[in-house]
This record gives sequence, C-alpha cells and structure tokens, in this order.
Amino acid sequence: MHALAASVAALALVTAPTLAVPAATKADPCAKFAGQAFVVPADALACLKSFPFNETLRQNVLSNIAGVFDFFTFEDFYLNSPPPFQESTTNIRADIARINRTHFETDFDFNKAVYDFTTQLNDGHTRWFPSCYTSFQNLLPAPMATLEENGVQNVFVVPDLLDFVPLVGTGFTDHFAQIGFNWQRLVGAKVLEIEGKDPYAYADLIASTQSGNYLDHGVRVNSVFSSYRISGTDFSQRFGDIAGPQFPNQDTLTVKLITVNSTRPETVEIPYLANYVGAPFTDQASLSVNLHWEANCAANDATNGQDLRTVLNNAKRATPKRARASIIDASQKNAVGLPGPFVPTAPPVDGSTGVIKSFILPDNKTGVMFVGSFEGDFNQFQADTVAAMQDFKTSGVSRLLIDLTNNGGGFVCLGQFLHQFLAGSQIGYPGFQSTSRANPLAQKILAADIALGNNNQITFYSPDNWAFLNDTQMPLTNNYNNPDVVLRTNGVADPTSQRFHDVCTPFSVPIPTTPQFNLKNVAIVSNGNCASTCAMFSTLMFERHQTKTAIFGGKPGEQVQYKGMAGNQVLEWVDLDDEIKTAGVKSDPLAPPDLLVNANMRHNWRTAWSFLNERVPIAYESELPQFRFPYTKDTYNNPQALWTFAASKLFD
Ligand SMILES: *[C@@H]1O[C@H](CO)[C@@H](O)[C@H](O)[C@H]1NC(C)=O
Ligand SMILES: *[C@@H]1O[C@H](CO)[C@@H](O)[C@H](O)[C@H]1NC(C)=O
Ligand SMILES: *[C@@H]1O[C@H](CO)[C@@H](O)[C@H](O)[C@H]1NC(C)=O
Ligand SMILES: *[C@@H]1O[C@H](CO)[C@@H](O)[C@H](O)[C@H]1NC(C)=O
Ligand SMILES: *[C@@H]1O[C@H](CO)[C@@H](O)[C@H](O)[C@H]1NC(C)=O
Repeated sequence: MHALAASVAALALVTAPTLAVPAATKADPCAKFAGQAFVVPADALACLKSFPFNETLRQNVLSNIAGVFDFFTFEDFYLNSPPPFQESTTNIRADIARINRTHFETDFDFNKAVYDFTTQLNDGHTRWFPSCYTSFQNLLPAPMATLEENGVQNVFVVPDLLDFVPLVGTGFTDHFAQIGFNWQRLVGAKVLEIEGKDPYAYADLIASTQSGNYLDHGVRVNSVFSSYRISGTDFSQRFGDIAGPQFPNQDTLTVKLITVNSTRPETVEIPYLANYVGAPFTDQASLSVNLHWEANCAANDATNGQDLRTVLNNAKRATPKRARASIIDASQKNAVGLPGPFVPTAPPVDGSTGVIKSFILPDNKTGVMFVGSFEGDFNQFQADTVAAMQDFKTSGVSRLLIDLTNNGGGFVCLGQFLHQFLAGSQIGYPGFQSTSRANPLAQKILAADIALGNNNQITFYSPDNWAFLNDTQMPLTNNYNNPDVVLRTNGVADPTSQRFHDVCTPFSVPIPTTPQFNLKNVAIVSNGNCASTCAMFSTLMFERHQTKTAIFGGKPGEQVQYKGMAGNQVLEWVDLDDEIKTAGVKSDPLAPPDLLVNANMRHNWRTAWSFLNERVPIAYESELPQFRFPYTKDTYNNPQALWTFAASKLFD
C-alpha cells in the first residue's frame, strides 16, 4: 500500500518517461475522459485496450513474477490444496508458462491474464497489481446483500440504497438521471436471478473468479455483498464485488427482481458506471494516451527497490522496519461513507479517533471495540486500546465484544499487541512460530546481510528481526537458514528457514499481567473478511483462549471460516527488491529484474504455524466459528444493531 501511495506522490516531482510510449493508432481513446471522475465502461475499456501487446514487457513481467514466486511460502500447497480449500489448487509454474505462450492482442489482455491468475490463488498477500489497468472500478447503482426475513434468506438490493448511492457523488447519480435510469425504484428489491442464474450461484461465481484475497470460498461469498466497515478511520459501506468489480469490462448486469410494493417479477438491465481512481492527468488533446501511460503505466521512482545502505540517512534508520500483513482491497481507493442513520449512536469512549472505534452499548454492560484494521499510527493504536479499556473499566463494563468485520490487517506486531493486552503478559510470547523460504537466493541475501553487518533498520532478512523460540533476540551473526530445514509439501521438498519468533516487545504501553476482562466474557464478531494480521489475531484468540466467535452472512448452507487470509508478513515487490539490493546481490542471475512498468507483485513471505498443530500453517487449518448468524435488514449495514443482537446471543 505504501508503495502505491508513494508512487502517486513521486509522480508530481518526477518526469520520467523511462519507457517508449506505445503510439496511439486511431483517435485517442483516453482523451475522452481526461479529468473526469466517471466514464461509461466501454470508453474506459477502450482506453485500457489502446496499448498494444508488447513481448518485451511480457518477458519483463513474467521474469519478475517467476522470481518473486520463489519466495512465496505457500507455492507447494497449491499443487493439491487441502480441503476445504481445494478450489485454489493450481500449478503456479504451469500457469506462468501458459501465460507465456498465450496470444494476446493488447497489453491489457496480458496483464488481466496475470491479474486473474494471481487473484484466483485466493491469497490477498500474493497478487499482481498493474497500476495501468487498476485505474478504474466499475460501480453498479444497486449493491446487494444476503438477508434473512421471516426465517428465509434471499438476496436483495440493499435497503439503504437511497441513502447510500448518493454518497458516491453527483457525478455518479447525474449520469443515471441523464440516461433516464431510475435506480431509486430498485431499493430493497428481492433478487430472483442475476445474469440468468440463481443469485447465490452468481455470488459463488464471482467469489470463485473475481473476489480473491481469501482461501476460504465461504469468506469470499461475503465479499461479493455490500457490508459495513471502517475505511481509514471512518465508517464506510463497501459496495461488494458484484456491484463493485475491479475492471470496467461489463456494461450492464441483467437482474430479475421484484421491487418493493410489487408482486410481479421483472428483468432489469442495470448499467455500470466506471469510476476513475488512477493518477490524475489533464487533457492535452492528442497527448493524453501518452499522459495516461506516463501517469499510470510506466515504472517510476517508487516501483523498484533501492540499496538502503546508501539511501537512508541516520534519522530514518532510528527505528526498525515494521513487518506488515494486509490485503489490498481495490474498493478502498474510492471508499464511500456509511450513511448517517446507520453510524452508531452510542457515545464513543476514549481512544476512538483512529482505526479503533469503541462504544458502550445502551445495556451499560457491553463494551465494543470495532477494530477496523491494524494500520495507521503504530503507537496510537496501543494508546487507544489502553484508553478504551480504562473507560470500559471505570464505566463498569463487564463484557467485551470485538468487531473484526472487513479488517484487512496491518502491522504484524499490533495483532500480537492486542492479543497480549487482552490476555495479559502471563501468556508469554503472543504470536506464532514463523518461517520463510530458504531458496538459493534467500540464502545468499541472508549470508550477505550477515557479512555486511546489515541490521533490522534497513532489512527484514537480518537476524536481529527475529528471536529464537526462547524469545532471545538473534545476534546479527545467526544464520537461521544454515542449516535449512526441508519442508515436504505435496511431494515437493522445499528448503525452509529454521523456526523463529517475532520480536514485538517491548510495546509502547505497559501490558497488564492478567486479563482486563475474564476471557470468557470476550467475544468476536465479523463477516470472515478478516485478513492477515486480523486473521492471526483472531486465530490466537480462538486457538489459545477458545474465544467465542460469531460469523454473519455467507451463503445459506455453505461453510464460512472465521478467518480470511492467514499468511504472515507480506513483502511488496519494492520491499523484496530493497532486500536484494541492500544485500548487494541484484546482479545474481536468480534476482528478479526491475519492473519496466508501474506495478506490484506482492507475496506472502512468511508462514505462521498453527498453535494447535505446529505442522500446519494457520492459513490451511480449517477452523469454523462456534456461532453463525444471517444478516437481516436491520444488521447488515448497522453495526450497533448487530452488536446489540450479538451481545444478546453470545453473553449470558
Ligand atoms: C516494447 O517495450 C519496450 C520496453 O519499454 C520498448 O523499448 C519497445 O519500443 C516496445 N515495443 C513496441 C513495438 O512498442
Ligand atoms: C517464455 O518462453 C520463451 C520461449 O520458450 C522463453 O525463452 C522465455 O524464457 C519464457 N519466459 C519466461 C519468463 O519464462
Ligand atoms: C412502497 O409503498 C409505500 C407505502 O405506499 C411507500 O411509502 C414506499 O415509498 C413504496 N416504496 C417504493 C420503493 O416504491
Ligand atoms: C445506562 O446508563 C445511563 C447513564 O447512567 C442511564 O441513563 C441508563 O438508564 C442506563 N441503562 C440501563 C439499561 O441501565
Ligand atoms: C535461547 O536459545 C538460543 C538458541 O538455542 C541459545 O543460544 C540461547 O542461549 C538461549 N537463551 C536463553 C536465555 O536461554
């Protein structure tokens, strides 16, 4: 994420036409929308498809991603993914070879093939994001939700449509007024078919082909529907992947439905409108294809890594690098607020200005912490936790509900912090055993870091990032890849690092020795879209303390795991390249080449091993929640109503 933000900032400063710009053939298809926030999908797609296929770029991209996959800890699991995660089974090297021999007309078609292949790995940590082609998000003025009514679940157009859609902006609603499409009459409509399929079958299809991010299919089904969340530090409502797909490659969605107040089924072609979320560029007539390419497609100063031995000054080196584990959700770029009527009305307690929003429910007994992510200000997260907990205690709150809905993860150590703060320092090490792959290049990086004396201020490979299993920090000379440990997965023997612990302590606030709340009176709610650090936190609470967990939503009759993507630390391409260059091994033939295009091949760099079964990565440990509830029209977009319902079910 920081790489993407940095690349936008860098553009303002740098004019770097590092790449020959493909010549515009006919009339310039990008000129049409320069400077506009909304554009009809066909026009957006014409712009994206205006760049011809280029074999040099294909070889550059495929060489880069093939090299990155050498570091991907779960590669061998994909050969035969264990149940219930079989859907993700694929041979990654064969997929790369297939894309290498496929005929593509345009650079977009090639990039979309790579995007789809990595998305369908269903690991939000391991994906290809070409900035050139992720510069739009299609939006449908009819987001959908699965809701129970009178004991039966169905798919509906969201009942808060009239409050929600206008929040996208007048650029969006004016378009539909102009073309005479009355989306307002679809509010709360019962959906009978989508694209000629049963709506849940269509939800399954989108979950299988477009949602990605989570190994568990059931969790992905919840991604296709609209749901509440915290985006940044604000309450937000997510469109869901049916109404908010990544690419502007669909003009309309054909939906058979019954509107409120009617009993007559009708079929409606609902038009999409594409929202431009790429880097801004202004229309300069025939120059705009070039400007679109320069703004979004060509590699810039932030695309590839640097030798941090020479780049970072002493001030920057004062703090260690911080491990992060998170997904990238395209819908964060143009996040829409949660309509006012559904924002919690209970007064917020102290420590609620950041990513955590805490409340005391009107029963005066239940404290709620809505942990929107583990991102943001590292120290403020800890201070906010202390402040909320103190406020709960002085208010006489006796039970704690933690909402992890749509929490996309963040700093690895903040997940361990929250676990230890709740359970007390008496539990000892609050994280998981971890490993990275010890492939030949990884061995060279670590050996070089040790020889150069590189430390945790400039690299993640340096031994002082980690602790032995007795929680003593490794000395700078400890080569944890020597000897390596052979891991056998699906018949493949893979050299792996020795096991180690994270070094997260001391935290910036004091940790109580014993739990603040009896852990029997702590419960978790979410929609399963709880990724990365969030998945590690919820797994720790479940595996070590049997914390009650309730999952809402999903397809009736289909399982939903309580955690989404539970890898461990993620390296963006720029991070991995920093490691390679800072260790001085970029000239090694095994090192992936710098990207010629502005893109990111991120990967899951470390495995977290299950506490219950230290032979299984927690990502592949099937763990179902103890409680499962359908959403209703009162709870799907209304956090406080959901918490009140959950408190009545989960606490005595
Ligand atoms: C393909 O891309 C390479 C690398 O940017 C560039 O040098 C070359 O001119 C491009 N080829 C064509 C035919 O545009
Ligand atoms: C793609 O295939 C060509 C022809 O077989 C081969 O030379 C090249 O190395 C392959 N590229 C990658 C990245 O595997
Ligand atoms: C349905 O009927 C009620 C009562 O007449 C009315 O208030 C409401 O606006 C109608 N809803 C729609 C979507 O037409
Ligand atoms: C909760 O506390 C408030 C403020 O002290 C009080 O007005 C209210 O009646 C209490 N509610 C319950 C259910 O006890
Ligand atoms: C912890 O383990 C390491 C590696 O086995 C060992 O060298 C070190 O002495 C141990 N430290 C303590 C305090 O036991």
